[in-house]
Amino acid sequence: MSPPINIADLRDRARRRLPRMFFDYLDAGAFGETTLQRNRADLEALELTQQVLVDVSRRDLSHAFLGRKSALPVMLGPVGFCGMFAGRGEILAARAAKTAGIHFCLSTFAIAAMEDVAAAAGLVPDFQIYIFQRRELAEQLLERARKIGVTTLFVTADTAVGGLRERDTRNGFRTSERLGLRPLADMVLHPRWCLDQLAAGKRSLGAARDWPEFGNSLMQQTARMTRLIDPSLQWSDLKWLRDRWSGRLVIKGILSPEDARRAVDGGVDALVVSNHGGRQLDSAPSSIRVLPAIAAAVAGRIEVLFDSGIRRGSDIVKAIALGADGVLLGRAYVYGLAAAGEAGVSAALRLLAIEMDNTMALMGVSSIAELKTRGKELVGGPAGSQLI
Ligand SMILES: Cc1cc2nc3c(=O)[nH]c(=O)nc-3n(C[C@H](O)[C@H](O)[C@H](O)COP(=O)(O)O)c2cc1C
Repeated sequence: MSPPINIADLRDRARRRLPRMFFDYLDAGAFGETTLQRNRADLEALELTQQVLVDVSRRDLSHAFLGRKSALPVMLGPVGFCGMFAGRGEILAARAAKTAGIHFCLSTFAIAAMEDVAAAAGLVPDFQIYIFQRRELAEQLLERARKIGVTTLFVTADTAVGGLRERDTRNGFRTSERLGLRPLADMVLHPRWCLDQLAAGKRSLGAARDWPEFGNSLMQQTARMTRLIDPSLQWSDLKWLRDRWSGRLVIKGILSPEDARRAVDGGVDALVVSNHGGRQLDSAPSSIRVLPAIAAAVAGRIEVLFDSGIRRGSDIVKAIALGADGVLLGRAYVYGLAAAGEAGVSAALRLLAIEMDNTMALMGVSSIAELKTRGKELVGGPAGSQLI
């Protein structure tokens, strides 16, 4: 098979490799997928300034954010169920991140337990937490995270209720505690995926390891844990978390300057401008559209990270130029994971780095620091547009 040349190639391979239930879960957005499409459309509509005859012979994509060095201004964001996209998915993704010199964040809905990721990948992941109605469950996860040396905790704030993804509803994913006949038959039609899953052993959620009351099948655990995510969570609860977590705290899912200011007041160290990849509130604005106003509201008091819609290295350049201190990847790396495991994630990261490097060189920019300082003069909406 010819090597993939962009993230879209990896997505095609992921679609062929995965049973429909899992490809749809990975690919889908909420309702009519308006925001999912807007994330792409608004990133694509931005124009970059070309500058010629600038010495760009020495280029450097490395950048420090969240207090750590990184080979790229990028990290792997939290994505649930990575172990269903490839047998030991979370461990493979963490290894690829380590090899690429970037960081990795493990989701609450990971198949692999955080202890196993840390041991098998030789890297202490960041951890993303959902706050459950039973607060003691969150406290137990915090304790486990502390024990393995996690320094950075992401709390996801844009999931008061789960997004309604119609493709998932059709497939019975996360709504039913049992696997239907049709998805089961479809799995059998994907023998490579089946063998990989069988080799990986029992499928269950690493977070629920010590919680027998959640049941022991993945479907049961998922449905029950999802129902327990606390819809009454408020800004005052951020203090509850801040009091219990002395490490770096990052709030994920901010889409307005007002909420960004509340996050700063709430004592977090960073926020992620994110619409959850168009998977939560459909018709919400694209993340890139709101990024400049949020960066202005924060005014350097905390770091501003960005995600949603990144599929090209040039998208990363645009986000950094418009005020992001770092970018989280979601589907872009998971398509690679589903397509070819660790090698697929490495391929995704290599392709994005090549595209970033090429874009910056043609813009006459040699470093991330330069991109950040000169950002606004280097990127803009097409003439007459309201994009920025
Ligand atoms: C399959 C899938 C599962 C996800 N699971 C989580 C999760 O468990 N926790 C979380 O905070 N975000 C989760 N996200 C959201 C991502 O962290 C990120 O915000 C989003 O994927 C960015 O959009 P993009 O995929 O278009 O880049 C998930 C995204 C996808 C695609």
